[in-house]
Amino acid sequence: MKIIPSTQSTQKLISRLKLKHKTIGFVPTMGALHEGHLSLVRKSRKENNITVVSIFVNPKQFGPKEDLALYPREEKKDKYLLQKEKVDLLFYPSADEMYPKGYKTYVEVSDFGRGLCGPIRPGHFKGVTTIVAKLLNIVTPDRLYLGQKDAQQAIMIDKMIRDLNFPVKTIVCPTVRENDGLATSSRNVYLNEQHRSEAVILFKALTQAKHEIKSGLQNPQTVIKNMKSLIEQCSSGIIHYIECVNAENLIPLKELRGKILIALSVSFGKTKLIDNIIFNN
Ligand code: PAJ
Repeated sequence: MKIIPSTQSTQKLISRLKLKHKTIGFVPTMGALHEGHLSLVRKSRKENNITVVSIFVNPKQFGPKEDLALYPREEKKDKYLLQKEKVDLLFYPSADEMYPKGYKTYVEVSDFGRGLCGPIRPGHFKGVTTIVAKLLNIVTPDRLYLGQKDAQQAIMIDKMIRDLNFPVKTIVCPTVRENDGLATSSRNVYLNEQHRSEAVILFKALTQAKHEIKSGLQNPQTVIKNMKSLIEQCSSGIIHYIECVNAENLIPLKELRGKILIALSVSFGKTKLIDNIIFNN
């Protein structure tokens, strides 16, 4: 595995690979890698000649109240895991490489940040779409691998790609879960024992909602109310939002039809978790 911190060297290497007609799969990450990230790497390895992973803890997607300094950094372990997965190229830039002094340009998808995590993380998605646009210009992949775990992010990035004509196909991969259903996340290690066992209620609530809708429940507000009661009865979690939206444009649903995204954010102690489910009805 080649590890390259420089944008220019990465671009040169990719150009050479493209001259040899190699297809390129790309998995952007912020490191602290786990099975969720590795599932994207494995899919990219299956579908492309070359797999590129980036690790960059993007300062522009952290709000002033979200501690960038506390984000887990596990450089050695991450490199080991990626090497084991036979990744071809790890792009590992510094903050100065990505945002040199005087950096001014941002990419924002209008309206897609109105709901869900948008209001509780102001500026977050603008930071995400900006860095992903930059990374796509550097790596110029054929396929981009994203996790459904961050459904709003994946839907927004795919919208940006279509609106700005990036010549890349978005592949959204299923959420990897722990044995008890909790979505795998680098934040799970911050949960104490009680919160860790309570947190399984999130996936149970999402599964219950899907079941109710499939059984004919038609009012989104009732679905949300039932999910709230379940979470509040079974845990000490603080609910930030539970929403039923259209999985293509993130607009809140009045009727539970089409491709439905039910997403939630709940805090256990100081740890904010997100999860979601997507299905057709
Ligand atoms: P990060 O949180 O490191 O996640 C990198 C990718 O892994 C994202 O596409 C995310 O959805 C996916 N992922 C995380 N947990 C997963 C799980 N349990 N199952 C499946 N996929 C999972 O998301 C980011 O980084 C950043 O915002 C980034 C896109 C890299 C831009 O900075």
